[in-house]
Amino acid sequence: MTQHKASKQAIRARAASTGESYTRARRRLTTPSQTQRPRTIAVFGASYVGLVTGACFAELGHHVVVRDIQPEKIRRLQNGDVPIYEPGLSELIARNTDRLTFTLDVHEAVDNAEICYVCVDTPPTASGDADLSRVWAVIETLKTAAHLTAVVVKSTVPVGTGSRIRAALDDAGLANVGYAANPEFTAEGTAVNDFLHPDRIVVGAWDGATADLVAEVHQGIDGPTVVMDVASAEMVKLASNALLMTKISFINEIANVCQATGADITHVAKAVGLDHRLGPHFLKAGLGYGGSCFPKDSLALKQLASNSGYHFQLLNAVIEVNELQKRRAVQRLKSELGGLTNTRIALLGLTFKPGTDDMREAPSTVLASRLLAEGAEVRCWDPLARLDDAEPWTSTSRHTSPLDALTGTDAAIVVTEWPELQDVSWDRAVHVMRRAVILDGRNVLEPDKLRAAGFTYLGIGKG
Ligand code: UDX
Repeated sequence: MTQHKASKQAIRARAASTGESYTRARRRLTTPSQTQRPRTIAVFGASYVGLVTGACFAELGHHVVVRDIQPEKIRRLQNGDVPIYEPGLSELIARNTDRLTFTLDVHEAVDNAEICYVCVDTPPTASGDADLSRVWAVIETLKTAAHLTAVVVKSTVPVGTGSRIRAALDDAGLANVGYAANPEFTAEGTAVNDFLHPDRIVVGAWDGATADLVAEVHQGIDGPTVVMDVASAEMVKLASNALLMTKISFINEIANVCQATGADITHVAKAVGLDHRLGPHFLKAGLGYGGSCFPKDSLALKQLASNSGYHFQLLNAVIEVNELQKRRAVQRLKSELGGLTNTRIALLGLTFKPGTDDMREAPSTVLASRLLAEGAEVRCWDPLARLDDAEPWTSTSRHTSPLDALTGTDAAIVVTEWPELQDVSWDRAVHVMRRAVILDGRNVLEPDKLRAAGFTYLGIGKG
């Protein structure tokens, strides 16, 4: 494994000789035209990963064509209307329109491209393995693109996928086209910032030239590039996500023990996180993780291990704890209210985390379904959630403010820690509710304030 670092020495030397600040000198030196040749990049997939990747590469000075198969999505993008909410993305796309285009046409994307980035999704199949059909569909369209310098996969794929793609490219007579794995570590809500200021850029390649090319297109980004073999790069993504999920399930289990024993998880997590060997991140107890990556990637890693004959016990436990965490919340409300039949419950926040409109694997979906199954009526509020025209949402009512959602309810669950919840007048809320019970599923409200207002306050991991 080798490490290529951005040259801090050169930046310092420039800062010293010109009197510029370090940041300004870095920006000057890393202006793409000064440090690299702009490349022509085709990005397959115009969802969260593909759009952020395309827009950020355009920002770095490259010429990018993003291709997707959904006509409506491409039409909107061509009209300057970004179909997903991701902070900073619309601005980035608007700023780079001269270098960034969108198309349905494979030829328009690939014919002039030097590098093809595969950013399509890999959802779970019925067996829990990653569905690679979209990745293979892209590879199929590239089989005549012998002019490409490299195919780079950013989609999260099982270890071994790169080897199979390499073989397919070779069989198609594309042995001259390089291959690299370049997994993404961007989180929704901060994806643009994560891409441009990464902790690391991981590049898996079999040859130095392809590794260097992938490192080169990232020039202008201040972060270490870590180069390794393709299989290891594929595993880095799965392992990183698995460890993050393990931290969440671990702290949720500690929270459950805190609750049973009289300790307070907020104090515990804070002090545990101050140990530099452990770190403060991903130690927020709550209703469990959701999103487009964690649930699917944990299943994919579990099945990858099982398919290789290894029973990944720890990961199984992480997944199970996460499932139980949502059900425990419903159970808790049920015992607090003496049953849920004919009760009215408000869900405050629906997306899997704040700062996104994404509902994929959001804990709120399980909560709403369970509450409805128990005979409760569900009212909800969320500032951005894109709800399906499907169950459970067709059986719930959505309201434009938290206070409206709370009206006439017996209890509320804070599901997503939207900042707007800090502005709710709980003194008023207590009067519009039928019974004033609040389950703070993200530990973001002030228990004393809520209790003083007349609420029965239930937090996570607060004994
Ligand atoms: C994640 C990874 O962070 C990212 O590196 C990867 O590329 C994609 O998956 P994302 O799904 O956008 O990103 O969200 P993240 O911020 O990681 O949160 C995931 C879930 O974990 C959310 O539901 C969040 O509420 C939950 N979470 C996170 C906790 O419950 N506690 C925590 O301490 C942190």
